[in-house]
Amino acid sequence: MAYTCEYFQASADFLRETVNFAPEIGIVLGSCLGPFAQAIEDPIVVDYADIPHFLLSTVASHAGKLIFGKVAGRRVVCMSGRFHSYEGYSFEELVIPIRVLKLLGVESVILTNAAGAVNRDYRPGDVMVIRDHIKLHGESPLRGPNVEDFGPRFFDTSRMYTPSLRARALDLAAGSPLRVHQGTYMFFPGPQFETPAEIRAARILGADAVGMSTVTEALTAAHCRLPLLALSVITNMAAGVLDRPLSAGEVDETAETVAGAFSDYMKQLVAAI
Ligand code: HPA
Repeated sequence: MAYTCEYFQASADFLRETVNFAPEIGIVLGSCLGPFAQAIEDPIVVDYADIPHFLLSTVASHAGKLIFGKVAGRRVVCMSGRFHSYEGYSFEELVIPIRVLKLLGVESVILTNAAGAVNRDYRPGDVMVIRDHIKLHGESPLRGPNVEDFGPRFFDTSRMYTPSLRARALDLAAGSPLRVHQGTYMFFPGPQFETPAEIRAARILGADAVGMSTVTEALTAAHCRLPLLALSVITNMAAGVLDRPLSAGEVDETAETVAGAFSDYMKQLVAAI
């Protein structure tokens, strides 16, 4: 499918008419990080299913709702539930949410995810501010006819994780009980967890954490020049780091344990950016 600006505009027009609310910050909540959504004041909730041309969450731990409201006095729109290529969505389809947020007028985006630690100094429950990413998977969300209204055909990615926002996130970590690092996120398409050999390769390549999301949204934001902050919650040591099998239960348990502290950290970030 070749997308046009009008395609995304249909979703944005519907949302503008339905909620009559102009968000400043767009937030995407990763697996089991949904509790932050409860911190949103005066929430206006729209089901993804009701938005024309939008996608549907198929993962149990992703709610599938767009929530508009206030956090720390800032107007936010929060995607409680994101879309992944392992659900069957093409990379090209995965541009939709960020482009709709851009058309709604957000001035910056915060992406969050759950990730496995490749860096042996990291521990489950830590947070990683994404400095850069590695995506050796050949596809790109920007493949296909370029929609010039959003950005140019060829674009720079060297500062796509906005340096000033990363610095702010690291400064705020001082007042948080969380251990916050800065590192490189490596994308794997999933849905299977990586093999221990893939994790060893990722480490040699310079990855600190691995996950199955975020890069499509991050590249879409970079293409339309949206300031971007991306945070990984380390939910587990990646495959083969510990001498035991990995489970989705472990990921969910850590995400639940850290959700309160992470939610507080996010609120401070929203206030500060
Ligand atoms: N690998 C990929 N995605 C993940 C992981 C992991 O170890 N943990 C949470 N999401």
